[in-house]
Amino acid sequence: MMNYKDKKYHVVTYGCQMNVHESEKITGILQSLGMTSIDKPELADVVVFNTCCIREGAEDRAFSNISALKKYKAKNPEMVIVVCGCMPQQKQGKYDFKTKLPFVDIVIGTHNINMLGSYLQQISENRSRIFEILEQPVDSCEITNVVRDDKINAYVNIIYGCNKFCTYCIVPYVRGRERSRAYEDIEAEVKELVNKGYRYITLLGQNVNSYGKDLNNGMDFATLLSKLSQIEGEFKLKFMTSHPIDFNKNVIKVMKQQPKVAKCLHLPVQSGNDEILFKMNRHYTIKHYYSLIKTTKRQVKNVSLSTDIIVGFPNESEQAFEDTIKLLKKVKFDQVFAFMYSKRTGTPACTFPDQIEESVKNRRLNKLLREQKFINKHLLNYCVGKTYNCLIIVKNGVTMGLTDGGREIYLPNDSGVMENHFANVKVEGIRNHKLSGVIK
Ligand code: 5AD
Ligand code: SF4
Repeated sequence: MMNYKDKKYHVVTYGCQMNVHESEKITGILQSLGMTSIDKPELADVVVFNTCCIREGAEDRAFSNISALKKYKAKNPEMVIVVCGCMPQQKQGKYDFKTKLPFVDIVIGTHNINMLGSYLQQISENRSRIFEILEQPVDSCEITNVVRDDKINAYVNIIYGCNKFCTYCIVPYVRGRERSRAYEDIEAEVKELVNKGYRYITLLGQNVNSYGKDLNNGMDFATLLSKLSQIEGEFKLKFMTSHPIDFNKNVIKVMKQQPKVAKCLHLPVQSGNDEILFKMNRHYTIKHYYSLIKTTKRQVKNVSLSTDIIVGFPNESEQAFEDTIKLLKKVKFDQVFAFMYSKRTGTPACTFPDQIEESVKNRRLNKLLREQKFINKHLLNYCVGKTYNCLIIVKNGVTMGLTDGGREIYLPNDSGVMENHFANVKVEGIRNHKLSGVIK
């Protein structure tokens, strides 16, 4: 029987912030068993792969990394390999862990990560493999012992799951329906993090704007944000991800009014063409999206905008793709996360006719990234003369202000006395493609 005390663990994370935060919870579980972290998976006693199935590329990478451990496991049969997260949770996943990876010891899904400690105990007593994929989330799956790596940014879940069923997306199938966390639990966690000195707290959910719909107590996302920003201390709240159909004027108002709400917004648009948006089941038009952006820009001074785009969705014509480019030029996002459409078995879009060839998707993605790079260069000029409330950081001996949107503004070195505090920074110019400024 393996006693985990003083053994070494290694956690590998794929995918989004949701998974990054889940890995912090997994780390908490492993450390509470007395384990310590090691850099190299091949030297670890327990290796956990926290997988993502949102695109085929992430799945292929995870599968090949897991497979690469086979030879180390052969040398060290005591090694315990765990695969968890979205990949095993799929009903019709590409990879069958049971037959294809016989050396993996524990395979669990998204709904029972909180049980990882007891599965590890179980396997140390009796080496038979554990396969446990729960169909439904369990009510009491809160994990409180979170070990965070970052000392400035912290994630806090506010809602799990998704009810939207965009036709390309696997998430609703592997993460279940929306479940909001109780306000008291969220508030207690945010207070604790503020007391620990975290400066940015990101409220996490597949669709944060749905917060409270299932609680039936009158609570909604705007109210949550407004209440949390009353907490005392030096910090700012960020949130992701928002859906254009639920993101609304009330949230914009809180963003405008509350200094503790960061002036940045991640609002995935996915496509700039109404027909494609309809086929994606996104429930909004580009006109609606523009009106949200317009109101946000008008109300929230110097707001930083980011978005997600999918290129090559089935039936996307050259014209439809050009509509997306047009949208980027018009909105001028600070950051664009662009992906080639990836067929996900079990989702409606997977069986749509007129799938786009890989080479076309590739070409469109490259064009879009080129256009965005160009837009970004121009955005730097746009920042000159503006004042941003920044977190002052010192990176490799260089002092800079970090805007809410993550832009770095180089500062004179004597500004370092303000390290780890918020201050207003005025951008004065551009040097070597970087912004430079002074504390106001
Ligand atoms: N193919 C490509 N991108 C996808 N996304 C979600 N599903 C797919 C898919 N099947 C993207 C969307 C989403 C982001 C998290 O991942 O843009 O906003
Ligand atoms: Fe996927 Fe759409 Fe839900 Fe986002 S809102 S997780 S893209 S189904």
